[in-house]
Amino acid sequence: MDEKTISYSRSQISYVMMPNEANAAGNVHGGEIMKMMDTAAYVVARKHSRCNVVTARVDELEFHHPIYVGELVTCKAELVFVGRSSMEIHVTVLVEDLNCDMSTRTALTAYFTMIALDDEGRPTEVPRLIVETEDERANFEKGRERYEAHKKRRKKRK
Ligand SMILES: CC(C)(COP(=O)(O)OP(=O)(O)OC[C@H]1O[C@@H](n2cnc3c(N)ncnc32)[C@H](O)[C@@H]1OP(=O)(O)O)[C@@H](O)C(=O)NCCC(=O)NCCS
Repeated sequence: MDEKTISYSRSQISYVMMPNEANAAGNVHGGEIMKMMDTAAYVVARKHSRCNVVTARVDELEFHHPIYVGELVTCKAELVFVGRSSMEIHVTVLVEDLNCDMSTRTALTAYFTMIALDDEGRPTEVPRLIVETEDERANFEKGRERYEAHKKRRKKRK
């Protein structure tokens, strides 16, 4: 099984929010943003694994700022940790008011865990993750801690 860097699959998607994605006051529905984040995480997981992937879990999703119709939303996504078939991806949502200079703000962030599946729909091994910087190494270790903690909790539930 080969190995890939974080930059190999790092991706971003952008979209201008439309009225059909908002309530009557112009606030964009949270679910629309979550769907975009899920798509960004999906792209990263697909590039890393080159397999079908599904979302297994979302951690630490918190909305810090509202998002309005007409704003440009960019989801930046990159791998943090890779297990055997699981891939944890950090997604950052940046929002820009297209009427103003210097208006970009981080509206929310979250961790998505995606699982690679083989042709029979079973979890399958993905390439190992190459970490190249001190930050990447530190984030990888934190990802490993979350992975172990989730695994323990699932074992207890069984
Ligand atoms: C995700 C799924 C494939 C896991 O299947 P499973 O039989 O429990 O698989 P396993 O126990 O062998 O675990 C496989 C991997 O998934 C990880 N995993 C399973 N459930 C998880 C969860 N709730 N959170 C985080 N990781 C999870 C395991 O840690 C393991 O990772 P590893 O291979 O890196 O060690 C299965 O639960 C599933 O299909 N869920 C629905 C996913 C889906 O349809 N999402 C879209 C919703 S619309």
